[in-house]
Amino acid sequence: MSDNHILVERPEAQPGVMVIRFNRPEKKNAFTSAMYNRMTAALEEANGDDAVRAVAFLGTEGCFSAGNDMGDFLTYAMSGSKDAPAAAVFIKALALAEKPLVSGVDGLAIGIGTTLNMHCDLTVASARSLFKTPFVDLALVPEAASSLLAPKIIGHQRAFAMLVAGEGFSAQAALDAGLIWRIVEAQAVEAETLALAASLAAKPPQALRIARDLVRGPRDAVLARMDEELLHFSAQLKSAEARAAFEAFMRR
Ligand code: COA
Repeated sequence: MSDNHILVERPEAQPGVMVIRFNRPEKKNAFTSAMYNRMTAALEEANGDDAVRAVAFLGTEGCFSAGNDMGDFLTYAMSGSKDAPAAAVFIKALALAEKPLVSGVDGLAIGIGTTLNMHCDLTVASARSLFKTPFVDLALVPEAASSLLAPKIIGHQRAFAMLVAGEGFSAQAALDAGLIWRIVEAQAVEAETLALAASLAAKPPQALRIARDLVRGPRDAVLARMDEELLHFSAQLKSAEARAAFEAFMRR
């Protein structure tokens, strides 16, 4: 990974906030294994540091993330590796994050670019954002416990449309469905996200943590669903139908 594909920042203007910024715009912020590893380390650092009271995810102008790197999918599929993919470790760290998570989406949010937000406590998005999870079209299955969280957050029909049919959701549709908190001007996504994170960071930390845990509920079911999804996801990744889909993307 280029060292700067994930930028971890602690802005002086927002005390208590850690920013995890996706910074690979030339590849639409597609996540590589190295990027997942950096994000996992940042979340663990946030858990262990009392000075961090909220974490904000941000992408680049016009793009949150195009999801998992397709080349990495193909490499993993061909490798025969039995190790858990870096993405699987990252999503567990997301589920186990102890500080509030806020995200700011401007533009494309594909695959994990969408499902990551299901672990966030507040998401703001620009009107031009698009939330889409083409898992089945890639011969894959939902991940990040989205098969559990999406029906809970947006209801069965919309979850099915998103996760199985691969329908894209505009920012307005995502707002109507309860997937995001607020739509803001594209130029305001970063400032609004940081302001939300800063307002959470300014609250009494113990009460904040207890309240967040109560609202989120126990994590066991989320972690168990991640394991269940991973079994299918890993098997599908190595399937001929998935390999054909990745190769078709790489050949475009
Ligand atoms: N993995 C690897 N590279 C990706 C990528 C991904 N998920 N998404 C985009 N890129 C790369 C493209 O290959 C291209 O690289 P190149 O300039 O070296 O050819 C660059 O990012 C720009 O993407 P491009 O497709 O030209 O932009 P676009 O605006 O026409 O389309 C997307 C953007 C996101 C709609 C399209 O790239 C796409 O469908 N990507 C795959 C998304 C996906 O299915 N992710 C996995 C979900 S599980």
